[in-house]
Amino acid sequence: MTVVVSGSASGIGAAAVQRLRRDGREVLGVDLRGADVVADLADAENRTAAVASILERCSGSLDGVVLCAGLGPHVSDPQRVVDVNYHGALALLDGLFPALQNGSEPAAVVVSSVASTHITWADNPIRTGTLAEAFAQAGDFAGSVAYASSKNALTVAVRTRTPAWGAAGVRLNTVAPGSVDTPLLQAGLDDPRYGALIRDFTAPIGRTGSPAEIAALIGYLLGPQAGFIHGAQFVIDGGSDAVLRPTAF
Ligand SMILES: NC(=O)c1ccc[n+]([C@@H]2O[C@H](COP(=O)([O-])OP(=O)(O)OC[C@H]3O[C@@H](n4cnc5c(N)ncnc54)[C@H](O)[C@@H]3O)[C@@H](O)[C@H]2O)c1
Repeated sequence: MTVVVSGSASGIGAAAVQRLRRDGREVLGVDLRGADVVADLADAENRTAAVASILERCSGSLDGVVLCAGLGPHVSDPQRVVDVNYHGALALLDGLFPALQNGSEPAAVVVSSVASTHITWADNPIRTGTLAEAFAQAGDFAGSVAYASSKNALTVAVRTRTPAWGAAGVRLNTVAPGSVDTPLLQAGLDDPRYGALIRDFTAPIGRTGSPAEIAALIGYLLGPQAGFIHGAQFVIDGGSDAVLRPTAF
């Protein structure tokens, strides 16, 4: 059983690698460094090369794909956030779909975010082609716009693939974490624009999540017990979404 994990070097991706290896899966990690396949997923040529390298290593057959590679709102170049979180994830998803069709009980899990609901698809500047204007308008908080719109567009992209992937026998779901204790969250806490905002909001469960908790859900969604779960987004956030959007589900 071979599974590709992007963002394998840190945080949720590293926890997913650990979890999947413990479950007896063979894992191919993809990351900027310290991975089986080293690639900058912000760059189109790197993405194509990464897909080619993965397909060669797995001989064109994969049982699972887990897409964790991502950048947080604190990153100084908001376009890079969109390039990694949205374009990078989609290039791997679509590029590896044929290999998943050759796998055994294949499934993919894409790590989105609760931020995917902080903006609507109708207003999403990725859809309307107005990212530059939206970044300019947001000023110091352009990273937030980049993050929410990239995660919203990613979840939409997954959901719109549900019919074709289902027909091909490949399950596809997203997980939408709230605050999880990783270097990405720490960078947000250390950022003067975002630190207080993150610290001032505590999930009802009273703590942040651990990468292992997200990895456990990912492991379940990849496994045979999740055979009827397809096209769903699983919020895993200690109750934050229920507080912020009690009537929206
Ligand atoms: N930590 C949280 O609170 C939280 C909440 C919601 C969603 N998420 C999402 O979870 C995913 C994993 O984040 P994390 O918190 O584990 O962060 P992290 O920073 O610990 O790990 C992210 C990984 O992605 C890799 N990556 C970044 N840019 C890349 C690029 N251009 N090419 C290849 N790899 C690249 C990094 O090198 C790193 O190993 C991200 O998609 C993030 O948006 C995190």
